[in-house]
Amino acid sequence: MPFINEVLAHNQKQNEISQEVKQAVKVRSRYAFEPESVAQKLQSHIVGQDHVIDSLRQQLTVIKAGLAEPRRPLLVMLMLGDTGVGKTETVRLLAEAIHGDASAFCRIDMNTLSQSHYSAAITGAPPGYVGSKENTTLIDEEAILGSASRPGIVLFDEVEKASQEVARSLMNVFDNGHLRLASGTRELSFTNCLVFMTSNLGAETWQQRQNSGWKNWFAKAGPSRRAGHFETALRNHFDPEFLNRIDRIELFKSISTTHVARIVELEVVRINQQLMKKKIQLRVNDDVIKHIAEQGFDVKYGARALRRSVRDRLLVPLSAAMLESGALTVDLTGEPQWFVARLVSGQVHCEWQRV
Ligand SMILES: Nc1ncnc2c1ncn2[C@@H]1O[C@H](COP(=O)(O)OP(=O)(O)O)[C@@H](O)[C@H]1O
Ligand SMILES: [Mg+2]
Repeated sequence: MPFINEVLAHNQKQNEISQEVKQAVKVRSRYAFEPESVAQKLQSHIVGQDHVIDSLRQQLTVIKAGLAEPRRPLLVMLMLGDTGVGKTETVRLLAEAIHGDASAFCRIDMNTLSQSHYSAAITGAPPGYVGSKENTTLIDEEAILGSASRPGIVLFDEVEKASQEVARSLMNVFDNGHLRLASGTRELSFTNCLVFMTSNLGAETWQQRQNSGWKNWFAKAGPSRRAGHFETALRNHFDPEFLNRIDRIELFKSISTTHVARIVELEVVRINQQLMKKKIQLRVNDDVIKHIAEQGFDVKYGARALRRSVRDRLLVPLSAAMLESGALTVDLTGEPQWFVARLVSGQVHCEWQRV
């Protein structure tokens, strides 16, 4: 067994080496983002999906070091899971962390695209073909191209809705980083782009099975059984050629009761950011958080229903309290006025906090 000093010396050495590597990356990388701070941003907003964030951190590190495969997109990631578990939000936050703007990505809804006249935009139909003009509105070229120091970002939402034709075009993008635009001869490059796809293939059948008499058995079966179920759903739907071209497939966890309180708290932070513009702040007692978490959670809609519920249950009593206290005439130059939300006989009640 090595002496503790040796271990420490070894660690010290490793540390120095990794500092050197970091320094080298800092000096040479063309990219301005920091994988670590991007991951931290995601971590502070997305609950219960640490495995996805870790994976993104690793991928971004490889990209920052300039070791992503050339002549392909920087990353092709498929995000799987139920609705309202944070798939789209992850991409929005990534755009915010990298570009300083949560809408700085191109979102292509495959549901819309499945209407065939739109799909021409992506399959490169010749000019004159119906739909050949749509690509200008459907495809945000700037967002895909990115810039010299920042990668572009594209999100193909509900990719399972893509037609065979569209899937083939996507496969081309994954393979050689190019998409022939419907306008004819022009090509759009994805080689400086992070490509995300989302799908909820398998989610519905998994929930059905869990709600059936098999519930306990499935609960005992654990995460690998769940992963297996989603994998089968994927393989039944997509050709192996399509799946083989994807760099990472990440399965988002379902939102469970253990995550709910934290998500409610995050939503309150968000509401307060909004209220700040009116110089109003809301303090929410723990019993209210617990109440909303219990009342507003529906596993079928994940965090989505929860978010609505927070707004419904807080903004209505807050508005009433504002009217009652006459706090509507806020002094926008002064200190914010504080309200407190507490539970009064099973109902959320807001009150102006006199200081
Ligand atoms: N894991 C999560 N942690 C915190 N908030 C979440 C999470 N998942 C979803 N939300 C919130 O719920 C809403 C819907 O999430 P979204 O990412 O659009 O779901 P989807 O997985 O269907 O794309 C977003 O406003 C997001 O802030
Ligand atoms: Mg989504």
